[in-house]
Amino acid sequence: MSRSGKVTVVGAGFYGSTTALRLAEYNIFETVVLTDIVEGKPEGLALDINQSRSIEGFETKVVGATTTADGQGYEATANSDVVVITAGLPRKPGMSRMDLIGVNAGIVRGVAENIAKHSPNAVLIVVSNPLDEMTALAQIASKFPHHRVMGQAGMLDTARFTHFVAEKLNVPVASVKTLTLGSHGDTMVPVPSRCTVDGKPLSEKLSAAEIEELVTRTRNGGAEVVALLKTGSAYYAPSAAAARMARAVIQDTGEVMPVCAWVDGEYGISGVYLGVEAEIGRSGVKKVVAGNLTDSELAELKVAAEAVRAKQADVKDL
Ligand code: LAC
Repeated sequence: MSRSGKVTVVGAGFYGSTTALRLAEYNIFETVVLTDIVEGKPEGLALDINQSRSIEGFETKVVGATTTADGQGYEATANSDVVVITAGLPRKPGMSRMDLIGVNAGIVRGVAENIAKHSPNAVLIVVSNPLDEMTALAQIASKFPHHRVMGQAGMLDTARFTHFVAEKLNVPVASVKTLTLGSHGDTMVPVPSRCTVDGKPLSEKLSAAEIEELVTRTRNGGAEVVALLKTGSAYYAPSAAAARMARAVIQDTGEVMPVCAWVDGEYGISGVYLGVEAEIGRSGVKKVVAGNLTDSELAELKVAAEAVRAKQADVKDL
């Protein structure tokens, strides 16, 4: 098996370190770099992951590097093909993702600038919260073209929706297809009209009230985990989603995934980072794919677009 490419994960918290582990275990990358500002933490985690290689059977090498806010340590990330930005604080119980905007904006801006300096051709996958706004900010700070900066949210929210449907119906997750669009926040747009179970519409399996209950649970999917953990937020499903996007980039698969992407005319919406379906490949977002929506789903997507547009306009000054 030939391995190629270099992927950097910025931030060695639970989300970042789990993402690095998943990426390493794919055994498709030459190198996975894990960075953090806590001295020794990324090096220690990298060493630990490397020591698991003979057991798990992967050859990808993991490199840990401590970085500083003024850019020291970023040499280790040089010429990365993909960079996953997890840096920033997670939510505490009772917090909305938007409560993190001030503190995380400063962190994400600095990271994006330093990454752009050392990996000018990378594709950025942002996961820091509030997601839609941090993705917009990473594009501004990196000065990368919009298609090379995207955010991870739709993959996660969709996976949560799929899990809830499969659990409710007691069927394998593989038989369930769901979709969520819109923001990774209050204006998330789960799309029941695009959900199927064994190829049959979800509406044939569940009542409207039951679907609405699962939609609400999906919208609160992150908060439900935060409330249980009490410290920190989810990372197993989020890291699975981010790693899968990085894999689609490096393998240039052209897979259609729900991601936070720059929308420029699709659905009659322009000039905003929003959760939509897109073809993902070596250049990042190859194409936004505007699938069929019902009138009310489209209306909800437009509401989401205007909500995130207003917030994204603020981030350039943060
Ligand atoms: C969540 C965070 C990571 O939804 O945004 O779990």
